[in-house]
Formats: sequence, structure tokens, C-alpha cells
Amino acid sequence: MTSRQSPLAGKHVVLGICGGIAAYKSVSLLRLLVKAGAEVQVVITPAGKEFITPVTLSALSQKPVVSEFFTANTGEWHSHVDLGLWADCMVIAPATASTIGKMAHGVADNMLVTTYLSAKSHVFVAPAMDLDMMAHPSTTANLALLRSYGNTVIEPDTGYLASGLTGKGRMEEPENIVRVLEDYFAKSQTLVGKKVLVTAGPTFERIDPVRFIGNYSSGKMGYALAEEFAARGAEVILVSGPVSVTASSPAIRLVRVESAREMLAECEAVFSGCDVAVMCAAVADYAPAVTSDRKIKREHSEVPVIQLVKNPDIAATLGAAKRPGQFLAGFALETDHEAENAAEKLSRKNLDMIVLNSMRDAGAGFGTDTNKVTIIDAGGSHEYPLRPKREVASDIIDYIETRL
Ligand code: CTP
Repeated sequence: MTSRQSPLAGKHVVLGICGGIAAYKSVSLLRLLVKAGAEVQVVITPAGKEFITPVTLSALSQKPVVSEFFTANTGEWHSHVDLGLWADCMVIAPATASTIGKMAHGVADNMLVTTYLSAKSHVFVAPAMDLDMMAHPSTTANLALLRSYGNTVIEPDTGYLASGLTGKGRMEEPENIVRVLEDYFAKSQTLVGKKVLVTAGPTFERIDPVRFIGNYSSGKMGYALAEEFAARGAEVILVSGPVSVTASSPAIRLVRVESAREMLAECEAVFSGCDVAVMCAAVADYAPAVTSDRKIKREHSEVPVIQLVKNPDIAATLGAAKRPGQFLAGFALETDHEAENAAEKLSRKNLDMIVLNSMRDAGAGFGTDTNKVTIIDAGGSHEYPLRPKREVASDIIDYIETRL
């Protein structure tokens, strides 16, 4: 593929290099990235420099290699935050067991890990190590953590290792790593020009200034969807109830709300200009009829009876207002009669598709980092395996794209 054709052309790539024998392959990787038209900034760990010289890397990337937090003789500060913002993607190849562990647990004691923690873009990790280190439960658990953060692990190959042993641990060949990145960027450009509304999190319905009716929704699924839409080039409006997760992509406009009524107002204000809306919020079905201005006191009152009123159905309201060409998706979290309930919501709310979670599936639903979903639409139902929420988001959006 020439640089004119490559989806990597013009992309900003941070190439992280750790201290391992496979660092020699990073030179080929760097050359291929540059040949594909990418602008590459190398960040190398102190141990990495024992295996490969910064001179080679800076000559090939035509940029000074970054390794320390500042240049010793001039005091010039290297901003990992700026690098993290600059990057369209970060690829760490080779990633050693030590760096993988630091990334998984936020041990930010070098420039590579601080850049990783600051990166707003997608991160690819290409492990390279001896077969026993690779098979150790600690490495497996740390890689699982990285996947749960939405990072892509480029699995190492099986073959002859520097230790003289044969097994799984060889860093994937540079050509294949480049192919993974090219696929990512080719895919990531599919939603440029589309405007997407996502609702996320719970709603809180006030009883008094200190109490509310709410639910256990963490917002993780909705935020993962928003990030994935943004990564594919869409402009995203994320209307979110109170959650502790944060949105990192600059393409996401985050609108914070508290109650179902506020969420409805924000959604109605933008829906007509959107191509796609995904209703992922766990909206409280009822709100107190009256909200007390003052804290309801225990001593001076009878046991209070809280009269409830029905909240508006945001998905159904948008469903009724939907124009041809707009795509509306909902979620259904069910404990029983899952498929029937989801199908009923699909038609009652005039949705184009519904994503079903069953509370009976371990690892699915509220608060978890994983999810297991079934997508139901007029054409039938499609079951997906248990996966990290960012990967589930990717599956859902892949499906939506087939319907646009
Ligand atoms: N939804 C909404 N507004 C509401 C209730 C639900 O927008 N007031 C949306 C949710 O975001 C989700 C879909 O409708 O996309 C289904 O939500 P769910 O809570 O499963 O359905 P309900 O209609 O509330 O039905 P029930 O609670 O009886 O299962």
C-alpha cells in the first residue's frame, strides 16, 4: 500500500518502545508507519534505550525521541499531556510485562506510561516476552485490564523466542501491526459528518435537597458508545445523568442532567438535527409528585408517604417525532421474558433496534466493565458474547452502520 492510499496518511502516531529484544523490530515498524504517511513520535522507556539507540529512531521519525520528563541540559519540559492530545493513536510495541503491569495499574513513573495515561486516542499494545512470562496469570490479568479500558491487544505470535525456547510471546510482525492500525483508521472514518445523540447513566428524581430516587446505572455502556461513535468520526452529544465516569474524546459534547425531565428537554432540543440516537440511559420511571425545598426531618414528621408521578418516556417521545432517515436505538435491561419484553418495547417506542441485556447473564448489566447483549430489530435477533463494554459498543455501532 502506498502512502497515498494508506488510511494512516497524515495520522499522528505515538510509538511507545519498551526494553525488550523485540525493540529491534520497532525500527521496521517505524519505517513502515512513516512510509504509510504517518507522523510518528517515538517515546521510549529508559530500558528501551539499552536495546536500541534514540539516534536511529529520531533519524527515521525525523523527530527527537522522547524518553525523560525533561531534557537534562536545557530543562525543556516534555509534556505527556500535549503528546496524549496530539496522538490519533498510540501503539506500544514491544510492550513488556513490566510496562503492561504499569499501564494496567497506573504506575506513572516514566514518560511512556504518563503519555499512555494522558492519551485521548485509541491505544494498541503489542506484547513481547518469554513464553512463561506471557502465560503468567499476572500478565493475563493485566492484559484483560487493558482490554477493559478499551485498548486493543495485538496478540503475540508463537515461535522461536530470544530465550531459545519456543512458545507464545513473539511480538507480532511490524507489517501485521501496521495492517491492524490501517484497519482501525479505515473503520474509524465511517461516521464522519454524522451527528449522534447518546443518553447515559441513571436519572435522579429529587425527594428533597439531600435525597433522590435513582438506580445503579454506572453510565459505562453509554460512555463507551459515545467514545466509539466519536472514534469513528461522528459528532456526539452525550446527555448524561449523574455518573462518575468521564468522557475523553474532544468530539463528545457532554450535557449533564439530573432528572428524566431535564434529560428529555436536552434530547428534544437536539434530536431533530441528529442522524442517530441511542437511548442507553436507565431513566427512572417515576418521580416524586412534590419535591420538598427543605430536608424532610425524621423527628418532626410522620413516616412520609411519597406520592409518585410517571416520568416522560424519552425514547418513546423521540420515537414519535422521528423523521425518515433518522435511526433510533434503545436498550432493554430485563430480568425475565427478555426477548418478548424487548420486542414489545421496540414496537411501543417506535425504535429501529433494541439492545437487550439480561440480568440473568453474569457480567452483564449495571456497574460491570463487561456486557453481553442481543440486538433485536425487525429482521430478527443477533446474540453477542460477553465482552468489555467498549468492544460491545463497537459491535453495536457496527450493526447500526449496516442499517444506516
Ligand atoms: N427509556 C426512556 N425514558 C424512560 C424510560 C426508558 O428513554 N422514561 C428508554 C431507555 O433509555 C431504554 C428503553 O427506553 O432505551 C427501555 O428502557 P426500560 O427501562 O427497559 O423500559 P421501560 O419503558 O421503562 O419499561 P420497564 O421499566 O417496565 O421495563
